[in-house]
Amino acid sequence: MPTQQDLNDPVDENRALQATESKIAIAGHPLHAMLVAFPIALTMSVLGADLLYWWTADAFWARAAGWATFGAFLMGVIAGITGTIELLMVQGIRNRSASWTHFILAVMLLSVLGANWGVRVGDYEAAVLPLGLLISVLAAGLTAVTGWHGGKLVFDYQIGTKLSHPRPGTEP
Ligand code: HEM
Repeated sequence: MPTQQDLNDPVDENRALQATESKIAIAGHPLHAMLVAFPIALTMSVLGADLLYWWTADAFWARAAGWATFGAFLMGVIAGITGTIELLMVQGIRNRSASWTHFILAVMLLSVLGANWGVRVGDYEAAVLPLGLLISVLAAGLTAVTGWHGGKLVFDYQIGTKLSHPRPGTEP
C-alpha cells in the first residue's frame, strides 16, 4: 500500500511548472491584477447606466454608458495584453490548463465588450434599447465569470504568486 510520500506529484517533480511568479509586475505586484479592476468596474457601470436610461429616458445615461463601454473595452484590451504576455512568458503559467481556460473566457468577454461599444458608435441613445442593454447583461455575466476565474487562478492555483520556500525535494 503506497503511502503519501511514495506517490509522485508531477508538479512537484518539475521545477519549471512551479515557476508561476508574475513577470509583468512592479516590485513583484502584477500589473494585470491592478488593471482588471477597470474593465470590471466599467462593465458593471455600463449595465447600471443602461438600466437608468431605460428607467428615466434621460439621454445623459445613454451618453455615460457610451463612454463607459469605450473605457471598458480599452482597459480590458490593455489588461488582456498584460495577462497574455504573462501567459506566454512564464512557463509555470503557460503549463497550467486553468490559465488557458481564463484566456478563452477573457477573449470572449473582450469580443462582447467590443461589440457593446461598436453598436453605440454613431447613435449612442438609439443603441441602448434593447440591443445595448442585452449586450450589457451578457458582458456583466461574462465579467463575473472571468473575474471569479481569475481569482481562482491566484488563490487556488497560486498562479502569478512567488514561492517563498521551495517545496521539499524540489530545491535546484
Ligand atoms: C485576455 C487575456 C487574459 C489573460 C491571458 C489573463 C491571464 C491572467 C493570469 C495569468 C492571471 C494570474 C495573475 C497574474 O499572473 O497576473 C490572471 C488573473 C486575473 N485575471 Fe486575467 N487574463 C486575461 C484577461 C482578463 C480580463 C479581461 C479580466 C477581467 C474580468 C481578467 C480578470 C482577472 C482577475 C480578477 C484576476 C485575479 C487577480 C488577482 O486577484 O490577483 N483577466 N489573469
